[in-house]
Amino acid sequence: MADTPRKLRSREWFDDPSDPSATALYLERYLNWGLTQEELQSGKPIIGIAQTGSDLSPCNRPHIEHAKRIREGIREAGGIALEFPVHPIQETGKRPTAALDRNLAYLGLVEILFGYPLDGVVLTVGCDKTMPACMMAAATVDIPAIAFSAGPMLNGWYNGQRTGAGTIVWHARKLMAAGEIDYKGFIDLVASASPSPGYCNTMGTATTMNSLAEALGMTLPGQAAIPAPHKERGAMAYETGKRIVDMVKEDLKPSDILTKKAFENAIVINSAIGGSSNAPIHINAIARHIGVDLDLDDWERCGLDVPLLVNMQPAGEYLGEDYHHAGGVPAVAAELMRHGKLHEDVITANGKTAGENWKAAPNRWPDVIRTFDTALKEHAGFRVMKGNLFDAAVMKLSVISPDFRERYLSNPDDPDAFEGRAIVFDGPEHYHHAIDDPSLNIDEHCVLFIRGTGPIGYPGGAEVVNMRAPDYLLKKGVQELPCVGDGRQSGTSGTPSILNASPEAAAGGGLALLKMNDRVRIDLKKGRADILISDEELAARRKALEEAGGYKYPENQTPWQELQRGCVDQFSAGMVLKPAVKYRKIART
Ligand code: FES
Ligand code: MG
Repeated sequence: MADTPRKLRSREWFDDPSDPSATALYLERYLNWGLTQEELQSGKPIIGIAQTGSDLSPCNRPHIEHAKRIREGIREAGGIALEFPVHPIQETGKRPTAALDRNLAYLGLVEILFGYPLDGVVLTVGCDKTMPACMMAAATVDIPAIAFSAGPMLNGWYNGQRTGAGTIVWHARKLMAAGEIDYKGFIDLVASASPSPGYCNTMGTATTMNSLAEALGMTLPGQAAIPAPHKERGAMAYETGKRIVDMVKEDLKPSDILTKKAFENAIVINSAIGGSSNAPIHINAIARHIGVDLDLDDWERCGLDVPLLVNMQPAGEYLGEDYHHAGGVPAVAAELMRHGKLHEDVITANGKTAGENWKAAPNRWPDVIRTFDTALKEHAGFRVMKGNLFDAAVMKLSVISPDFRERYLSNPDDPDAFEGRAIVFDGPEHYHHAIDDPSLNIDEHCVLFIRGTGPIGYPGGAEVVNMRAPDYLLKKGVQELPCVGDGRQSGTSGTPSILNASPEAAAGGGLALLKMNDRVRIDLKKGRADILISDEELAARRKALEEAGGYKYPENQTPWQELQRGCVDQFSAGMVLKPAVKYRKIART
């Protein structure tokens, strides 16, 4: 529970009679746009609005408007709002990859929350990495914080069919490869999925991470699924603004909310919603910054056997508006609670327990949010894979299609395993250049590998493991090949991949030792992924690689790439900046 309220930290800036010159200097510049001395010295909590929206970040751009309602809520409850920008992270706009910027935005926000007169903060979250960046910073600083989502876009439609952001790209690419649509048709189809402001309307990384912000208890209940343009979004912004002021008065901090049990709830909910494979990276990162022990084994232990309840693309058929109308996170949580899958006694941002918030939540559309009896898949969690290729990687079981199961997992003597010939790409450019090259002789018994795509190899980690089959196989009707890599995969992709392999090739992982046309074996039941060569041969390859100076990856292009590469941890450990983890609760000491 929350500690006893203490003196507001903003008073150290604005009202410290023991140091009048500092107080005057802190105070005078905040008066120059019309705030009054009386307001700033009245003892009202000063609340930051961490603004992640901008013209550069369309997914979060609705926050420019929402912030006005957040501000009104803050004022209504007796606080003073100070809005400030967060380094933008637009998933679809940033080169070489938006994930590079998660830790940069984190660092920037830590400095702001620590170094300015803020008693609490509203974290405006949305597009994939904005949620973890903000949450990690709030965890490090540990001032009262509440998250508020931009909300998904409205549903996309094309010829009477729902088209989901991101997910449609993989489908459209196959249609173009098969000659069914041309370049213009391709662009039209892809753009149809984004009909309004907001973030991806699929169960991609954004809807996943925003649902998990709610699952962790870091938002008001029922807020994650509300589409960006809906009126409830504005009302929720206002309520969120009101609530943060009371959280400051109650001194309800991230460290009170983000307990091990809260993380376990998030893992269970992630399985039930069919959440993105990026979730373990980001959730583990938040856990590390708040000081909770959480690793991939916790994901398998808590999440593997949870059924898939949310029928949303890419694993299902519906989209964000439908998820909201069905009841969003509370309706999912209520069903999980009926089966004893969640901790009900954890405290959440509204001061109530998860049980009080969710237990009686109605499900208004049972085809969109299923029950355990009507679940879409029995086991929707991540299988953690290990072997001589890597120490840890995850596979999202909820996206294994019947076609894939038939093709690879139907040997009656060995139903959960398959062997294949490795096709190995070094980085996304190599893959794009070579995938359709007939000389690689790729067939439906091949396993596609990509390496050089982890946090160091492709700084931030590339979202490329979901590789498509070559055009000549697509034309033959082979829709997908097994993919393995040390990069990430878009949450909007439905490819059954083994990804986030740690350690990555660039950090000396076994993937660096793999050669083109090696035999590999993947065993989903045992959670093993191995190159089928002897230990002696493996050791000889390692020695040769070390003598050659290790696995080669591209040069740094920016100062930040160099800085991050020098101290970033692996995906399984949250891809955090290693030196940052020891800084905890820094506003409380
Ligand atoms: Fe921003 Fe999907 S690209 S949420
Ligand atoms: Mg993504």
